[in-house]
Amino acid sequence: MGILSHFFSTAPKNPDVIMQPRSARVQCSPNIALVKYWGKRDVASNSPVNGSISIGMADCHTVTEVELFPSTRPSVHFTLNGTVCDPPSRLPALLDCFRAVLPVDHGKTVLDRSTLTISSTNDFPTGAGLASSASGLAAIAVALNVALDAPFSDDALAMVAKVGSGSAGRSIHGGFVQWSVDPAEAIEQVAPASHWPELRLLLVEAAADTKKVGSTAGMLRSAATCPFMAARAASAAARLTRVRQAVLDRDFAIVAEEAMADSNELHAVCLASRPAIVYLSGASLAVMGAIHDLNAAAGHTIAGYTFDAGPHAVVLTTAEHAKRVEWRLRELMIDIDAAVGVRDVRPMAIGGQYTVLE
Ligand code: PMV
Repeated sequence: MGILSHFFSTAPKNPDVIMQPRSARVQCSPNIALVKYWGKRDVASNSPVNGSISIGMADCHTVTEVELFPSTRPSVHFTLNGTVCDPPSRLPALLDCFRAVLPVDHGKTVLDRSTLTISSTNDFPTGAGLASSASGLAAIAVALNVALDAPFSDDALAMVAKVGSGSAGRSIHGGFVQWSVDPAEAIEQVAPASHWPELRLLLVEAAADTKKVGSTAGMLRSAATCPFMAARAASAAARLTRVRQAVLDRDFAIVAEEAMADSNELHAVCLASRPAIVYLSGASLAVMGAIHDLNAAAGHTIAGYTFDAGPHAVVLTTAEHAKRVEWRLRELMIDIDAAVGVRDVRPMAIGGQYTVLE
């Protein structure tokens, strides 16, 4: 076995594992929440104060490769979009989830005897409130599960991924995914993407730099200073039940109206935090206005919007109205100065189940 016998001095259950290369390359997609997570019941485990429900965005991808090399000085090297940078702040907590299930020899797992390199690339805006942390941390969790031959099922892996970034837990399963807190915390697929073929998503990319207040700092600030924080969290449970049922019933008007209300309440909480957390931009407000105008002109709800911790919108509509809604949003690219306005409007397939590439 040569050098590998030193590397794995604990005999693993499956001797074949010794000869496996410790690397994996995987692809994950971000998700957009219709009822959003905002606030932590427990910071260490990223347990949320309220449940959430999301849709996977299949046309956005994070491709992540992990490799482990034997080393007497374990370390982590992280590359994001080709640039060497600090690893995600919660990566150590995610790695601890793997340590807890890996074979131990003299108090050390393979992670404690390795240099870990993680190389991650996004084909959509990074760190700008478009849930790149969701697909990024989900991809790291999936890649480590493969490379380390760890035993996590997809449901368990979702609970590991959410330790790295809350929303990442919802990026393990594709389609419509619920992260519940009651009666116990769990992440499950509500329905696959094929459940609702008429539903359409449009990603409206706004001109923006990376977000100025990270979601963890934002949540903690809101919990400490926003007078409406507890009220929003308390009302989220009923909204989650309503949206889950509306997804199962394919009731577009309820899903769109509740998604807009939830997004607006979240951003109201952010604005009422001290100092105020401002994620929306002029472009975001223009998108909101255009959607309300479209709905008023149609006489019923043909579109809805939702914003995470940044100015980009995800617009919901149906196959019947998709062209009209996209046309109106594209007009905003002309109406507003490109430096502050809408940069792009992209139809976005629903899906987002992870793929192991090799
Ligand atoms: O994944 P985190 O821990 O960065 O939190 C993301 C929170 C929101 O994107 C604003 C809402 C959500 O539920 O995705």
